[in-house]
Amino acid sequence: MQIHVLSGAPAALRAGALVVPVFADGRLEGAARTADAELDGAIAEVFASGEIKGGANETALLHAASHAVKRVLVVGLGDRAKFEASSLAKYAGTAVRLLGKRNVTSIAFALPLEAQPYPALATSFIVEGALGGTIDATTYRTEPDEPIVLDEIVLVATADAHEFDRSALEAGAERGRILGEAVNLARILALTPANDMTPTHLTKRAEELAQKYGLAYHALDEAQMREKGMGAILGVSRGSDEPATMTVLEYEGDPDSTEKLALVGKGLTFDSGGISIKPAENMHEMKYDMCGGAGVIAAMAAIAQLRPKVNVIGVVPSSENLPGPRAVKPGDVLRAMNGKTIEVINTDAEGRLILADALCYARELGATKIVDAATLTGAMVITLGHTATGTISNDDAFRDHFLDVAKETTEKYWPLPLYDEFSATVKSEIADLRNSAGRAAGSLTAAAFLKAFVGEIPWIHLDIAGTAYTDAETSFLAKGPTGYPVRAFVALAEDAAKNGAGSRNGAAAKTATSGVR
Ligand code: BES
Ligand code: MN
Ligand code: ZN
Repeated sequence: MQIHVLSGAPAALRAGALVVPVFADGRLEGAARTADAELDGAIAEVFASGEIKGGANETALLHAASHAVKRVLVVGLGDRAKFEASSLAKYAGTAVRLLGKRNVTSIAFALPLEAQPYPALATSFIVEGALGGTIDATTYRTEPDEPIVLDEIVLVATADAHEFDRSALEAGAERGRILGEAVNLARILALTPANDMTPTHLTKRAEELAQKYGLAYHALDEAQMREKGMGAILGVSRGSDEPATMTVLEYEGDPDSTEKLALVGKGLTFDSGGISIKPAENMHEMKYDMCGGAGVIAAMAAIAQLRPKVNVIGVVPSSENLPGPRAVKPGDVLRAMNGKTIEVINTDAEGRLILADALCYARELGATKIVDAATLTGAMVITLGHTATGTISNDDAFRDHFLDVAKETTEKYWPLPLYDEFSATVKSEIADLRNSAGRAAGSLTAAAFLKAFVGEIPWIHLDIAGTAYTDAETSFLAKGPTGYPVRAFVALAEDAAKNGAGSRNGAAAKTATSGVR
């Protein structure tokens, strides 16, 4: 795919369609005003007639035989006063899904003047959102839907007297391409059914990507896990014939630093619940129980291309969770890599078991900060729905810093508490811990369980059970996997490079600087 930035006259434009933004106030500016003039007032007319009101992601397609570009798609951006750069991803995705289904493969996007203060962010969002719009989920059909092909994106930043910083526009567009492709990679991995997406397949894909982008790769097989005492993931894997894997991708962007950010993702390729089997309804969705792992692998691929000055490792524990003659049983006691013993109350609380060993392993590999992402609890879907990801941490400053960074992405994160009381609920009568404390505060007691495996390291747990995939198709995204948490992971790594390992130190350094000013 080609991406161009155009800051000359839009008359020079050659594309299948020009997309122009409009706000709910109907005031036409910049590219929208130019296009309106060239179309003899046609855009003002769709407003005047009430055909569109400029609400977010509303569309009107105008045909313009006389115009250099034969189609102009007007896309609403909503209330001008509430404009946020991230809405540009939806703006672009909406256009791609509408035009792509009409076989338009070359699309020019006009930037609103409102984007002028942050040109790089704006083009990054547009390209990310445009790529996100191309994915559909019918590849397993013998006659799949016609794919949305996007050969060319033109970013049009000519706007009255306003000047856009061209090199920032170009850098942002390139970042958006890398991020958008990584998001789509995570979504495709997650869409792959569990009969194809086994733990062995997932680690093979990670190995291929490592080779392609120059990351160090290694993976532990079950024998190596046994040597390391990883009894928790091995316990989960016992019910399945597919062997578990523990995949590690390493990116070294700052060899002089001892700081190392670890991204850990639950890669449970199918969760039947095990002996504590789940009800049949919607069980097929549990092929998505590896979205956290797919997100880590895809984020590492993006980080390898963006090359921030920071060290990052990705750790992906992967297993199936099935009932079988050798499966782990309720009441069994497992021993994790750090020696802690775990009474298995419910075999369906398997995510925290495979993560327990992965968190220990991340520490052995030298992690100084850890962020994990997991489709961990149904309770999280009840708490925040499909809108936001619960964000739970043993370190408030690290968490707040992460929340700040994630605000500059299209993903939503919301803080939830980690009281000592929750840790008390995951104590067992006969072992150190139990893997389920019942229904009350289920997402938070799950987090309290994980906390027992991170030691003193600043750590954030992201429960993406509600956000990793969705049933609701939007104008800009197909239903199915969403690519959470790739955008936040990439943003955190980039920010860590700016501020020194994405840490409290980084946040403190920032505060100190603004203090002197
Ligand atoms: N993978 C599920 C959580 C899940 C549920 C993700 C729905 C997405 C949608 C997890 O392994 C699980 O089964 N959790 C149990 C924990 C319980 C047994 C303590 C749950 O949430 O019911
Ligand atoms: Mn489960
Ligand atoms: Zn699960």
